[in-house]
Amino acid sequence: MRLSLLSLSLAVLFSFHQASYSQESKEATSAKSDDAVAVHGTIKVDGEIEDAWKEVPELSVKKLVRSESTLDEEKVAKATVKLMWDAENIYALFQVKDSKLSDSSSNDYEQDSIEFFIDELNQKAGTYQEDDGQYRVSYKGKISGDGAGYSESKIKAAAKETEGGYVVELSVKLEKAKLEAGAKLGVELQVNDDPGTGSRGGITKWNHDENDSYLDTKNFGVVTLK
Ligand code: BGC
Repeated sequence: MRLSLLSLSLAVLFSFHQASYSQESKEATSAKSDDAVAVHGTIKVDGEIEDAWKEVPELSVKKLVRSESTLDEEKVAKATVKLMWDAENIYALFQVKDSKLSDSSSNDYEQDSIEFFIDELNQKAGTYQEDDGQYRVSYKGKISGDGAGYSESKIKAAAKETEGGYVVELSVKLEKAKLEAGAKLGVELQVNDDPGTGSRGGITKWNHDENDSYLDTKNFGVVTLK
């Protein structure tokens, strides 16, 4: 009797463990970059983190681009990013952890900055087409960019220093994508880190761990409008 009670409680304990284990592994797989979403909403691009951002899931910009990084992995600036969309724009909130801020390089991409890459039609065409653009904002709010679809008139941005880093809020006007729930956009996210040397010491990215996004849209991730 005592033995069977013991084996019953062991069986209950085991199945409880299995259930919570499979729950955990489900959560782990749901963090994949192809499950990324932008949430419907409109914000003011002013560098203030309004309440609407609280409901938006976070993406991590933490993959080290080894070929371009001399800094140790744990020392390279990283970010969390949230995305929103409305009938005209995509919005991004970058919250960057960067212990030393510098813009002393004359190359924009070597200054402490974030980059937002967009392939509006998610065609993954390779070279940049009319619907593809590269948008960069420094921690001081300086805008730069490139690509066939890039225009400075399409981006609004505001940056603010925080304790341990900086925040960039931006909007990019989308002209080719059909902005409706379920639509998929090609997106890549990047952080450039000058550790104070006057040149870039490291890059981190969201989806692909190579420094190819400014030339090639193929390895962008996918974001679904929700
Ligand atoms: C890359 C740089 C490149 C620059 C060109 C950046 O995304 O990391 O290596 O020179 O784009 O705009």
